[in-house]
Amino acid sequence: MKEFQSWMDVNFSRVREDFFTFLRFKTISSDSSLNAEQKRCAEWLCNYFRKLDCHAEVIETSNLPIAYAEDLRAGPKAPTLLIYGHYDVQPVDPIELWKSDPFEPVEKNGAFYARGAQDDKGQIFFAIAALRYIRETRQPLPINLKFCIEGEEENGSVGLATVLPSLKEKFKTDFLMVIDVDILDADTPSINLGARGIITLDVLLRGSNVDLHSGGFGGVAYNPNRAAAELIAQLWDQNGRVAVDHFYDDVTELSAHEKSFYQSGASAKAIQEAGIVALGGEKGLPPHEACWFRPTLEINGISGGYSGPGFKTVIPAETRIKISCRLVPNQDPARIGQYVKDFLLKKVKKGIHITVDVQHGGKAFRGRPDSKLAIAATKAFEEVFNKPCQRMLTGGSIPVVADLMGVLHPDVIGLGYGLAGDNIHAPNEHFGVDRFKKGIITVARTIHYLGIR
Ligand code: BES
Ligand code: MN
Ligand code: MN
Repeated sequence: MKEFQSWMDVNFSRVREDFFTFLRFKTISSDSSLNAEQKRCAEWLCNYFRKLDCHAEVIETSNLPIAYAEDLRAGPKAPTLLIYGHYDVQPVDPIELWKSDPFEPVEKNGAFYARGAQDDKGQIFFAIAALRYIRETRQPLPINLKFCIEGEEENGSVGLATVLPSLKEKFKTDFLMVIDVDILDADTPSINLGARGIITLDVLLRGSNVDLHSGGFGGVAYNPNRAAAELIAQLWDQNGRVAVDHFYDDVTELSAHEKSFYQSGASAKAIQEAGIVALGGEKGLPPHEACWFRPTLEINGISGGYSGPGFKTVIPAETRIKISCRLVPNQDPARIGQYVKDFLLKKVKKGIHITVDVQHGGKAFRGRPDSKLAIAATKAFEEVFNKPCQRMLTGGSIPVVADLMGVLHPDVIGLGYGLAGDNIHAPNEHFGVDRFKKGIITVARTIHYLGIR
């Protein structure tokens, strides 16, 4: 820890400068006009790894490229750790709510502000900085290390999922560390042992060939906005349970023992800080249980008709609904998508033309708490905080992790320093400088403990 502190005193400003360069790449994966920028960012990362004495290459996919780096000089008898993260980010809108340019990072009030400052550029960069610390303090790397930093986590990871089978040898690993998650709270060390899966659906309801005058046709035509409202209202029962047939078929109930295995988060505080008063989950479930152990269905967007300035008396021809379901282990994304689709087709008002597009999803994952990786990270966290390390899950999803596990069969953990208040995916995303620094040493010490036979 002392050595780390003195290295930081001298070198942190250089790390920050490079971090800011990384943040300036406009790597919004859902915007295909920025594809060249994504590629430049992947190349920049690979060059960075080369300067850190790694072999690195940009791996092309059917979509956006992966930045891959490795140092295998610990040899075949030493374990291998693959670190996963993503360099792509979410769109910046609503841009008018940003207090500074999302792609011109600033340090303010002890935090870095930029799109990606936390999710996931800030988090993956502290892992890269951990390697830099190891190199610059001339510590031997006791394990084989690989980095897979993909460019489209925020957009479905289709490219990585598709090339993955052909990368089975290259990505071969004993351990997988997912650097894209939260910590219980800023003062509580915690490793992450899983995340929920996800499936998304795009729904289109059409009531007429063209938009209609709501005087001429009001009270006559069945408004697709009303169809959407009536359809959506049927998706939950009185107790807040999802009413879709078979939705819970594959969900296993956890015993009190299994539940107590994970420490409840600071959910009460996060709920209050977010200004949430009305609760929408299953009746009687504490928030962290609802978020970690149970599947859910959410409407992420409804659009149809006119909601701009002023007024337009219209019955829209079409209404769109975006739906996502968060899933727990055993639930198959495609199957759940089909159940929801069947439900919507069955319940929609006759005569409304409906199309439901079930998109690409990902399964939930879990890590073993007694794996060597989990134990190494636990020790690292305890060293950094001087407190017992807790276990947690996340309600969010990193869909490609289950794919990586299916091909590589590693032991997995999530390691991260995110907090609910970091505004990821929102205006003024930020990441505490202290947490960024703790991330560097936590990863470095995890590598150290993983290397002890
Ligand atoms: N890093 C997040 C997942 C996450 C969120 C972990 C909060 C821990 C706490 C990831 O980048 C993300 O946003 N995932 C998406 C996946 C979706 C775009 C398919 C999600 O969870 O909505
Ligand atoms: Mn992320
Ligand atoms: Mn994200």
